[in-house]
Amino acid sequence: MKLKSLVGRLPAEQDLSVKPRPYLNHSVELKKLFTAEERADMLEKVGLNVFFFPSEMITGCDLLSDSGVTTMTSEQWAALHLGDEAYGSNRGYFLLKDQIRASFGEAFFNEPGVGDSNAFIFHQGRASEDALFTQLGKLGVGQIIPSNGHFDTTGANIEANKMQAVNLFSEELLESDTNVRFKGNMNIRKLKALLEKSHDRIPLVYLTVTNNTAGGQPVSMANIKEVSQIVHGYGIPLFFDACRFAENAWFIRNYESGYKDKDVAIIVHEMFSHVDGFTISYKKDGLVNMGGGLFLRNNGLFTKKYPKMPGAIVGYQIIKEGHPTYGGLSGRDIMALVVGLRLVTRDEYLTYRINQVSEFGEEMHRQDIPVVRPVGGHAVYVDVNKFFHDTAMGPEDFGGVALCAILLAGYGHRACELGYFSFGHFDRETGKEVLPEVNFVRFAVPRLRYEKQDLDSVVAALKVLHECRKEVPGVQVTYGRELPLRHFKARFEFK
Ligand code: F0G
Repeated sequence: MKLKSLVGRLPAEQDLSVKPRPYLNHSVELKKLFTAEERADMLEKVGLNVFFFPSEMITGCDLLSDSGVTTMTSEQWAALHLGDEAYGSNRGYFLLKDQIRASFGEAFFNEPGVGDSNAFIFHQGRASEDALFTQLGKLGVGQIIPSNGHFDTTGANIEANKMQAVNLFSEELLESDTNVRFKGNMNIRKLKALLEKSHDRIPLVYLTVTNNTAGGQPVSMANIKEVSQIVHGYGIPLFFDACRFAENAWFIRNYESGYKDKDVAIIVHEMFSHVDGFTISYKKDGLVNMGGGLFLRNNGLFTKKYPKMPGAIVGYQIIKEGHPTYGGLSGRDIMALVVGLRLVTRDEYLTYRINQVSEFGEEMHRQDIPVVRPVGGHAVYVDVNKFFHDTAMGPEDFGGVALCAILLAGYGHRACELGYFSFGHFDRETGKEVLPEVNFVRFAVPRLRYEKQDLDSVVAALKVLHECRKEVPGVQVTYGRELPLRHFKARFEFK
């Protein structure tokens, strides 16, 4: 009997309840071990600010961010060695041009010397946001930048240039209906109302895919199309904040009707066909540790409406970052990025990645820990208000900050408050906190870094803290309450 027909009679491998990871470890790092007491001493020393806690002392999972913490593939490490560190027009630049055209569409990277420069490499996402909004601010063409959810650096760059960053979260975001798959969508009702009143003050509209500030939730193709039609109807350009474009496309493929037989790479093209430009941090779906960029559609609404912008951005890029052909990145970084962009839309990778995050959140839910569901693409968001709902924790006790501190000291896992402290601010006039709509602790899962056992240990720790939530005291801010982007700098102590 032929072996093939023998295996044909077995249950199919994809139907087994436990499947192997679609990758293997290339190299690993052994952790140093620290006790809870040692971690507590250190965390107190840095004023309970988890950003200042030495990463080498993290004995559990470091879920502070999914940004720049990707484990690169062996192909990417090999590509690093092919880096060309020439000062102008290095080898990687040409490969990156071809890859950007292949990933997002030919209109986003003109051939050098043909037409205006429209592709600007930067060292990080926020540097590209800075370039865009500084130059837009100088043109003085508007005051309001609406989004389905601005990331904190995007909002800060907009406001640093005397414009207002407005978040139009979907109504479904904070509802517990788990059948709504695209809670990251822009709120169309609010968008229409804002445009009707203020369209002449809006130079461009932003869609963040996936919506990091709004629970890491994806945006549907239907929403992208509708937003695009509405804003283009007013002659206003549309941009993506495209950091997690591949994860967003995966959600469209899996959950939006009409897409289940399409490749993620094709869906990415369709998504980008609706926008006039995008900023991106490659530290997420570029699968690299550093990199960012700003890309404008050739002959798109943005470049037509603001013809001075491409030239102004090149000038700014040269002063701030470097020649447009490396834009703040070393040649080797560019080589790793090219390979990362090629890998990121591969189905076996994305399916494993997103299911890992989803399973992490579902396990928390099974343990009664309140999380935003359905779980988004890159992180699990614990709802702090629900976590502490039956305790004495008040809004100005910053329960999310307290939870992160106890989790890190007690169990060695690092998460990040994205809620009343990070997104709120202190109003000097009233002496009161101005609270944002959302109050989360985010558990961001780095790509290709942790295994199920690691994430299960985070759930086990959180379960203990949830059970003794009534004993968790609030924190008071000892430094930095009134500062902008205060969560990066502030210090706290337990009350
Ligand atoms: N936009 C979004 C949606 C982001 O999530 C980030 C970074 C940026 C822009 C800025 O990119 O870090 O390369 O300057 N997010 C990280 C996070 C830091 O932890 O969510 P950057």
